[in-house]
Amino acid sequence: MKITIIGAGNVGAYCASLLAQKDIVKKIVLLDVREKISEGKSLDIYQMLSIIKSNTEIIGTTNDYSKSKNSEIIIITCGVPRKPGMKRDDLVKINAEIIRNVTKKSIFFSPKAKLIIVSNPLDVMSYVSYLTAKIDSYRVIGMAGILDSARYRFFLSRKLNISPIDIQSLLLGGHGDTMVPLYRYTSISGIPIKEFLSEEENDIIIEKTKKGGEEIINLLGTSAWMAPSASIVEMVEAILKDSKRIFLCSAFLKGQYGLKGIYLGVPVILGKNGIEKIIELKLNQKENNLLKKSFHHVKSMIDKFI
Ligand code: NAI
Ligand code: 2OP
Repeated sequence: MKITIIGAGNVGAYCASLLAQKDIVKKIVLLDVREKISEGKSLDIYQMLSIIKSNTEIIGTTNDYSKSKNSEIIIITCGVPRKPGMKRDDLVKINAEIIRNVTKKSIFFSPKAKLIIVSNPLDVMSYVSYLTAKIDSYRVIGMAGILDSARYRFFLSRKLNISPIDIQSLLLGGHGDTMVPLYRYTSISGIPIKEFLSEEENDIIIEKTKKGGEEIINLLGTSAWMAPSASIVEMVEAILKDSKRIFLCSAFLKGQYGLKGIYLGVPVILGKNGIEKIIELKLNQKENNLLKKSFHHVKSMIDKFI
């Protein structure tokens, strides 16, 4: 079982390390265009594994895609991250070119792979990768909802002084300012959220969630990588173990929610084939309007840049 991670920057390298620690894959290939960076980071992770008792093999390579041959999953984390003052959308042109290039090479060597897209702006990059790969859309999956939901659960847990582990939540739509919170579907160990806080109080938490990524960028000068990597690993594990878990992922819509032709965050069942099913919920008018707004935001970027 082989996994390739393209991009050995903050997200790629941390993701490789987390995956290696889980000891659930035989081999990880870490690839970057920058000379020697993947090789160096891979060695560091490899040398940790006897201590933490993992048998995963990890190799780094500078742009040699033949090493990724026959990967089960390819995780695309390469590209440019945001700097303070930048929106995710500011990255679209530069990252689209990179994503086209790396998708083409990746799928050439691993025609049966599932692709997990991480690069921003996430929903647009997932679409670009899908168009380039020319494979079924259920094999090209964007990572964002797990992260956004984790941030939401974090802020809720701080507000309510309850463990985030016991909070369940659903957010739809694009990764970023147009995410659509579903207050009705948020619960704590099965107890509806309305028993704990009002919709107005929840809206304040949602605003904090929307700005969660930006808050970290302003502190660090670059975007987050630890929670994003943990989110990717959840997806990898669900696919490898065919666990049919429900996650929020960016998926290509073919009429679900009355929308089609773009990638957007929705609940999906993940299994060995990638997205096994997109789960459609009956939305109320307010939720529907917000989702449409999110759709038009992603669609306008595609129409303008892709
Ligand atoms: P980073 O700058 O630390 O790493 C990016 C790596 O990509 C660099 O090592 C760079 O050399 C490499 N790269 C650039 N062009 C390449 C190419 N053609 N082939 C192979 N490697 C190439 O950035 P970081 O923090 O790892 O973020 C990566 C991307 O993920 C960014 O676009 C960022 O916005 C996005 N991101 C998305 C998240 C999400 O929730 N979907 C969460 C966190 C980051
Ligand atoms: C985040 O939300 C940068 O999209 C990334 O942290």
